[in-house]
Amino acid sequence: MEIAPGAFHLRHHLPMGTQRALAQRCRSLIDGPIPGYVPTVRGGGKMHVRMLCLGRHWNGQTYRYEPVRADFDGLPAPPLPDEFRALAAELAGSVAMRLDADLCILNYYDDDGRMGLHQDKDESERSIAAGLPVVSVSLGDTARFLFGGTRRRDHVDALLLESGDAFVFGGPARLRYHGVSRIVPGTAPPELRMSGRFNLTFRQYDI
Ligand code: SIN
Ligand code: MN
Repeated sequence: MEIAPGAFHLRHHLPMGTQRALAQRCRSLIDGPIPGYVPTVRGGGKMHVRMLCLGRHWNGQTYRYEPVRADFDGLPAPPLPDEFRALAAELAGSVAMRLDADLCILNYYDDDGRMGLHQDKDESERSIAAGLPVVSVSLGDTARFLFGGTRRRDHVDALLLESGDAFVFGGPARLRYHGVSRIVPGTAPPELRMSGRFNLTFRQYDI
């Protein structure tokens, strides 16, 4: 379960009822009045996910967090639901870490969804220095997840993140490179009645 110091893969952690409720919530948020969108990043390329930030908005042009979506439609980031915050705290607690999340990035991956290798390093300096974890929850189709070291050239391992899995990386693992090389279509549990994959990453900016 601890795949590297500070990095934990919690397989099949969420019961199906929880997954169903979460997936439904994700769907209504991402198709809601402040919808998910495909960010265009600094270099001008489009990301390969549909993104909705809750609590704080991550700006794909500046790589900074802000209250409104200045790089897209100027709308405010919807609030982080209390039950999301509670879930993140519980998952961090299950590996003896603390997280009082104040934001979540919700991503939807379709069959062609992916995400290049990157570090999560746009949270506050204090948060990162304290090693406060990123808590990730996966729902729907399986993803081939890449997990490397703290330098881009370090060796990268591939593992499968399945529906109901959580992945927590904090402490010495907080700045490890990671990404999603591909989605395995058609692997979502039938009970979720969905195609594609939701991933939620909870983070704490303020400390
Ligand atoms: C991310 O790194 O922000 C997303 C990771 C994932 O989709 O599993
Ligand atoms: Mn990330």
